[in-house]
Amino acid sequence: MELKDKVAIVTGGGSGIGLATAKAFLDKGAKVIVADYNEESGKKAEESLKQYGDILFEKVDVSVEEDVKNVVALAVEKFGRLDVMFNNAGIGVQGETHKLSYEDYNKVIKVNQDSVFFGSKYAIPEMQKVGGGAIINTASILGSVGEPTAFAYNASKGAVNLMTKSVALQYAKDNIRVSAVAPGYVESGMVNREALGDYYETLVDKHPIGRLGEPEEIAHAVVFLAENEFTTGTTLLVDGGYTAQ
Ligand code: NAI
Repeated sequence: MELKDKVAIVTGGGSGIGLATAKAFLDKGAKVIVADYNEESGKKAEESLKQYGDILFEKVDVSVEEDVKNVVALAVEKFGRLDVMFNNAGIGVQGETHKLSYEDYNKVIKVNQDSVFFGSKYAIPEMQKVGGGAIINTASILGSVGEPTAFAYNASKGAVNLMTKSVALQYAKDNIRVSAVAPGYVESGMVNREALGDYYETLVDKHPIGRLGEPEEIAHAVVFLAENEFTTGTTLLVDGGYTAQ
């Protein structure tokens, strides 16, 4: 699928993987709506990327159905259509499962998993109107392998993998392709040397390639998933060999 003049929503586009993907979509000539609940970084993203093409920031909490419904409507109102939905915003909560509150568990499930339901539900009818499109969900290596202190995150990303397959199978007939990207640890707002201290090096050691990923490397894979018309229902691991071990 040629991305030139196509319209894409990038959730969590204010930072990290989302920000790099918004730039990669603009470089391909797409029009982009950055949907993020952090107003400051969202506005900064809009400001820094507008030199590359049509971009709008909208404040959206992806765990709120009405917000996601509204941002899809905004894409159609401002740019006339919706072709690509990148359900990317996500959060993590670290800790032992027996100490995890139901509130924190639910928060992770809502932001990482319910958002994929909402993003699919409201994007699909718009994609059907224009003869197809691509939905890409950000899963994780932790959707495929466990991490002792990431119970809710593991649950949500595992679910994203199978939600991806389910929606892909349902809407292939409408030329809507649905895939997931599963990054290894990537330098971002939530993963960086400053935030992680000594644990940063432990994470580096878990990647056979000997470093963490860069957001642009994930963005490159997302562009591939959006463009490649024979790819649907897949989870593409981009993980420096983490899950090959
Ligand atoms: P990041 O923290 O740099 O970016 C996440 C963005 O999502 C932020 O701009 C934040 O404001 C936004 N966000 C968070 N909750 C939101 C909500 N409820 N509504 C709207 N926006 C919200 O982190 P990163 O790494 O770019 O994360 C993007 C995705 O990649 C997430 O789904 C994360 O789980 C996933 N991921 C990240 C990995 C990493 O090592 N950085 C590894 C594997 C997956």
